[in-house]
Amino acid sequence: MLSSRIKRVAGSPTLAISTRAKEMRADGIDVVDFSVGEPDFPTPQNIKDAAKKAIDENHTRYTPTTGIPDLKKAINDNLNHHYGLTYEPNEIMVSSGAKNCLYNAAVALFNPGDEVLLPAPYWVSYPEQLNLVDAVPVILNTTEEHGFKITPDQLEASITEKTRALFLNNPSNPTGATYTRSELEQIGRIIVARDILVISDEIYDRIVYNDFEFTSFPSLGEEVKKRTILINGFSKTFAMTGFRLGYACGPKEIISAMARVQSHDTSNPCSISQKAGVEALNGPKTALDTMINKFSDRRDLILSKLSAIEGVTCHPPEGAFYVFPNFQKCIQNLSDRGLEIHSSDDLAKYLLEKAHVAVVPGEGFGADGYVRLSYAASAATIKDGMERITQLLSQPTPTPH
Ligand SMILES: Cc1ncc(COP(=O)(O)O)c(C=O)c1O
Repeated sequence: MLSSRIKRVAGSPTLAISTRAKEMRADGIDVVDFSVGEPDFPTPQNIKDAAKKAIDENHTRYTPTTGIPDLKKAINDNLNHHYGLTYEPNEIMVSSGAKNCLYNAAVALFNPGDEVLLPAPYWVSYPEQLNLVDAVPVILNTTEEHGFKITPDQLEASITEKTRALFLNNPSNPTGATYTRSELEQIGRIIVARDILVISDEIYDRIVYNDFEFTSFPSLGEEVKKRTILINGFSKTFAMTGFRLGYACGPKEIISAMARVQSHDTSNPCSISQKAGVEALNGPKTALDTMINKFSDRRDLILSKLSAIEGVTCHPPEGAFYVFPNFQKCIQNLSDRGLEIHSSDDLAKYLLEKAHVAVVPGEGFGADGYVRLSYAASAATIKDGMERITQLLSQPTPTPH
């Protein structure tokens, strides 16, 4: 009954675990949820006001497929201000979230059998979107020791005549790993020499810590820029996940092909969200600064709590709002104690059922043995959740919670 294509595609594991956590909460269970992929702050007031004003002023109709001119101008001004980038209006397309941009790009760019390089750990939707267009994800495994980043040699060795593109998620979900300018330059030289595309998902670009100097990949020069599709959005930086607003910038031939996909799919992103997006980019950024300072404190807090758990290691993230600790030794210990826990998936279920803490298992990100915790949660919640995990894992003989 179903297509062979959809049978190859798994549902989002991050959404699955947060749905289970919500169900448990609905049953009156006090669950600490580290699985969410969105800021816990409300959308800033000025952005909410702009959305209300958009409705009152009747911005409630279809818009141009690729987005309203004032939003495209705000996107260009913002990229120019931060990274010295310039895009013409026909090189920018606004969609219903960055996820929608990525899918439009996959449909517009890839033929069945095309190879697309995917550094692991990867964000869960990349391989599934590639599966949906019959492209072939080629996994480039990275290590914790190397900060979860690909090396130039590894990239060079992975390119074949079927390779069309490399996915770069910088800063990364789930690891928080963020490439320095010189690391990106090395990657840039290879992709120019081998003439492949880069889909650079920079949705966490403004969420970096300890004065990390973020470099946008297409800002490395014209040759890199003409091979890059830059993806960004409003969900994370402006706490606007529900508005469903993201954008792609790139060569006009590619953007116009993506626009053809969108014209037959969603038609255009929500008119009200687009007006809110203009305000997000042009209005005051004080709420953003407050949010990042809070995330920075929580990052330090969760790292210190993780370091206190025996056998757990964690690469300190440079960006985004996730930690991706290595629980391999803990899993081994629990299995040695006779528990049926042999994978991150088993561990996540155990933590949810016994400690009532929701984390996302690493398998969906291509990294068994790891789990992802989001620290988009209050300091009190982080302390509570980490205390529960520590206690459960240090119990000599696990007992029901
Ligand atoms: C790396 C990455 N890209 C894209 C997205 C999608 O964001 P949006 O809400 O704009 O669709 C997410 C959301 O979790 C993400 O983590």
